[in-house]
Amino acid sequence: MSFHRIYPVTLLTLSLFACGSENINSSEINNDPVSLVSVGKKLFFDENLSSEGNQSCASCHDPAAGFADPDVSARQPVSEGSVAGRFGKRNAPTAAYAKFIPEFGLSSVPVVETASRYQGGQFLDGRRSNLTEQAKDPFLNPNEMNNLDAADVVSKVSQASYANEFKKVFGSDAFSQTETAYQNIAIAIAAFEESDEVSPLSSKFDAVFAGLASFTESEHRGMMLFRNKAKCANCHSMNMPPRGSLFSDFQYFNIGTPVNPDNPTAEIDLGLAENPNIDPVDVESEKGKFRTPTLRNIANTAPYMHNGGFNTLREVIIHYDRTVADYLEDPDFVAAITPEKIPEVTQNLAKELKTPLGLSEQDMIDLENFMNTLSDGYR
Ligand code: HEC
Ligand code: HEC
Repeated sequence: MSFHRIYPVTLLTLSLFACGSENINSSEINNDPVSLVSVGKKLFFDENLSSEGNQSCASCHDPAAGFADPDVSARQPVSEGSVAGRFGKRNAPTAAYAKFIPEFGLSSVPVVETASRYQGGQFLDGRRSNLTEQAKDPFLNPNEMNNLDAADVVSKVSQASYANEFKKVFGSDAFSQTETAYQNIAIAIAAFEESDEVSPLSSKFDAVFAGLASFTESEHRGMMLFRNKAKCANCHSMNMPPRGSLFSDFQYFNIGTPVNPDNPTAEIDLGLAENPNIDPVDVESEKGKFRTPTLRNIANTAPYMHNGGFNTLREVIIHYDRTVADYLEDPDFVAAITPEKIPEVTQNLAKELKTPLGLSEQDMIDLENFMNTLSDGYR
């Protein structure tokens, strides 16, 4: 198998360099990335930065759960806000590897058939261009951390145990101007999210490509299925040098995720069509499309999809195997016999899913085993 040779030895060299940079200790320098990152980390984990003092970014993006929410399942698929009983409509995605998502913009690949005109952006519909812009939203979202306004957040940070560290990074008058301080809070959080701690590329998959481990036969078959017969890598792209695959092409598709009746927000989620930054003429053709998510740490981030409708990787694979193909072949039959399999948005369904994959039981096991190699912290 030639897969080893696709990735040159530089992968290993680069990751060694990255490890080395963590040891730099120059806290005197204002823009020292190390203290910027450590302030960002403290902000990320600070529950005081919510209206009830009970919720941090990490509550919904917990490192122990692949930087997603550990307290959700397909039956309870969305995170509760700082105020009890408040819920958003989307299943919290991982915040890890989000640093690799390009800024929102027009697609850089040729747009064919059901593909989208757009790519990239933070949030499942790409409505914020980068991590810094993204980080400003949860603090003020009433369904999330529910602070009054930016001044409220800045005031809380100015009284935090790490306020002096914040001043060390951003200057002694760091809290005097609300807008600047709020921007800097977001910059620090983004720096933490960009650190190797959040996106370590330390899975078995990475170890295999660094020549430090080898796949089992089933994992290896799973990877080949993922790339060929099952077509997963068409979107969950595996070619992302120099440091390792990200399992996303950052493009938008409607993969026909069915409604999740247990999602408290019963409304149809139009995905990219809800992004206010798209051209109004594109709204119809972008309905139901979501940005291809990374599959790193996927074993730890259940439930799956924007509405959290699938609890297990097996359910996801069964969906891809033929649900959309069956629906497109005979929508009336599906509506009569298995209405729970009707796509939430029935237009713009991805052309990749128009024919059944024909996966066997063993194929499904192999695919699961392969996806289980994408969890960070291998050995
Ligand atoms: C109550 C749960 C909750 C809290 C608290 C929360 N998030 Fe999120 N986060 C979500 C949800 C849900 C989404 C997806 C929302 C959407 O697409 O509309 C999301 C999306 C994101 C994304 C985009 C990932 C992607 O793939 O597009 C990042 C990055 C992120 N959050 C970071 C943060 C940061 C930083 C904080 C703290 C300032 C935070 N989150 C607080 C639930 C939460
Ligand atoms: C046409 C592009 C495309 C193909 C092909 C594709 N995916 Fe996806 N995948 C997506 C998109 C887009 C989503 C998000 C959909 C949503 O939230 O409704 C997704 C979501 C997922 C998720 C859930 C991720 C999460 O964090 O919730 C998993 C797991 C997954 N895909 C695995 C696979 C596997 C396994 C295959 C091959 C059998 C595959 N995908 C094929 C585009 C694709």
